[in-house]
Amino acid sequence: MSIYELYVKGARVWIPNQENVWEKASLLRDFNRGDNSVHLEVEADLQKREIPDLPPLRNPPILIGQNDLTALSYLHEPDVLYNLQVRFCERQKIYTYCGIILVAINPYKEMALYGQDLIRAYRGHSMGELEPHIFAIAEEAYTKLERENCNQSIIVSGESGAGKTVSAKYAMRYFAAVGGSESETQIERKVLASSPIMEVMISLSANYCMEAH
Ligand SMILES: Nc1ncnc2c1ncn2[C@@H]1O[C@H](COP(=O)(O)OP(=O)(O)OP(=O)(O)O)[C@@H](O)[C@H]1O
Ligand SMILES: [Mg+2]
Repeated sequence: MSIYELYVKGARVWIPNQENVWEKASLLRDFNRGDNSVHLEVEADLQKREIPDLPPLRNPPILIGQNDLTALSYLHEPDVLYNLQVRFCERQKIYTYCGIILVAINPYKEMALYGQDLIRAYRGHSMGELEPHIFAIAEEAYTKLERENCNQSIIVSGESGAGKTVSAKYAMRYFAAVGGSESETQIERKVLASSPIMEVMISLSANYCMEAH
């Protein structure tokens, strides 16, 4: 099947927008091989436009809001952003999977997501069984550590202020809770107290690397 067969009259697409980055549109007529423009109806203001490149196709509405981005039929920038926007703005969900990666959006406010009840809920469940969560990632690492007796790493990345330290703290809280015994709170306190020291070491090694290059 040729790609052009998807670009028929009524096909739902994304087009670049200066203000909102991407904007919804649909095709006013079939696109044929050799055409050098597409005719669009832009939903926001019902105008007709011609743009030179084939725009990315929109996913069917039923797929929007998926808790795993890999479930989308079309996995490209506009639908990744839109899916995350729908989950965060309309459903107050800060976590979404992209396969084995957890995408977290910083809510910049307290969420009732990190209590002992939720730690218990995620214990013993594999990723995908419950809503995406940092506890599910921690559970996966902890179970593998137990089962395979092999060191595990969780890589937390993002720009400054994205929520890396907070996410790492909640992962540590999970390990402290599931790994602790009678003196659980004591272990949690010790594990969490070590995180500023870890931060300093990471920061020093990052500076060292920058100076070395
Ligand atoms: N899951 C969350 N729930 C609520 N607030 C959060 C969450 N994650 C981050 N925040 C808020 O965002 C702020 C910045 O997060 P954090 O310090 O983790 O960023 P960072 O990625 O470690 O930044 P830097 O790279 O500068 O160290 C936190 O102080 C907190 O107020
Ligand atoms: Mg930090």
